[in-house]
Amino acid sequence: MRSINSIKDLSLQEIDALVQTAEDIIARPEHYARKMAGKKLATLFYEPSTRTRLSFEAAMIELGGHVIGFSEAQSSSAAKGESIADTVKTISCYADIIAMRHPKEGAPLVASLNAGVPVINSGDGGHNHPTQTLADLLTIHREKGSFTNLRVGVCGDLKFGRTVHSLIDAMSRYDGVSFVMISPEELKVPSYAKLPLKERGIPYTQTTDLAAAMPELDILYMTRVQRERFFNEDDYVRLKDSYILTPQKLTTAKKDLIIMHPLPRVNEISVAIDEDPRACYFKQVLYGKYMRMALMMMLLEVK
Ligand code: CP
Repeated sequence: MRSINSIKDLSLQEIDALVQTAEDIIARPEHYARKMAGKKLATLFYEPSTRTRLSFEAAMIELGGHVIGFSEAQSSSAAKGESIADTVKTISCYADIIAMRHPKEGAPLVASLNAGVPVINSGDGGHNHPTQTLADLLTIHREKGSFTNLRVGVCGDLKFGRTVHSLIDAMSRYDGVSFVMISPEELKVPSYAKLPLKERGIPYTQTTDLAAAMPELDILYMTRVQRERFFNEDDYVRLKDSYILTPQKLTTAKKDLIIMHPLPRVNEISVAIDEDPRACYFKQVLYGKYMRMALMMMLLEVK
């Protein structure tokens, strides 16, 4: 039995296999419509979500399986003080696989150590979000044709942005990748999330200047300033609109730039950009469902 806490838990060969499976699901969905018949997914979401929870649920339903779960801690016995360990031991009696989101970093890891079924980290605090990265990787593969020789700009709240931490870890494993990290000083990538870059000798720069970085980027990965992680509302208000991508700011960008965002968006990408063919954020939403289908089949060893 195997759980996914971090994108590190998947080898490059496994990521390639997941991409290939997702491509096959896209090409012939009918072939997969009964693959998970009789299986149950439990979505244990202690923190709000639209895309991750509903795409996991849609993924299981499209594979012929069923879904149980809760979408807020208050509607579960966590509200009465039940521990994560006891909750997942209980859920393991009802479901074949668990997708868990929690505001505390490491909570899905604790769950995976206590559950009798695979646990998938579906976002833990400001730490990691490996299945968002799988969605991002399928998007990059489809749009760019490969994962190599790309200059990746990550922009916004790089301190609390868990999707960025997982993306850096994943993309730094491919040849010829380099990063430009664009953020206010207070929201720089934490040291632990830069360790994969240092270990692998991956080039990166840190800047506050999105305009200066724009012409060299192959990928621009925008992120929301994560209000829910701030201790001080004044700091959030001061920083929330640090970067707002508008059509005017894209005039110096490459013609084949891809613009990504894990969503939800607040102000950081103008809706005027949605019609730009370089905007890929709603493709990420769709591709996330296919990668979650592929991942659940892999973890439950469904051929
Ligand atoms: N990208 C993402 O995690 O979105 P949700 O918070 O809506 O799940």
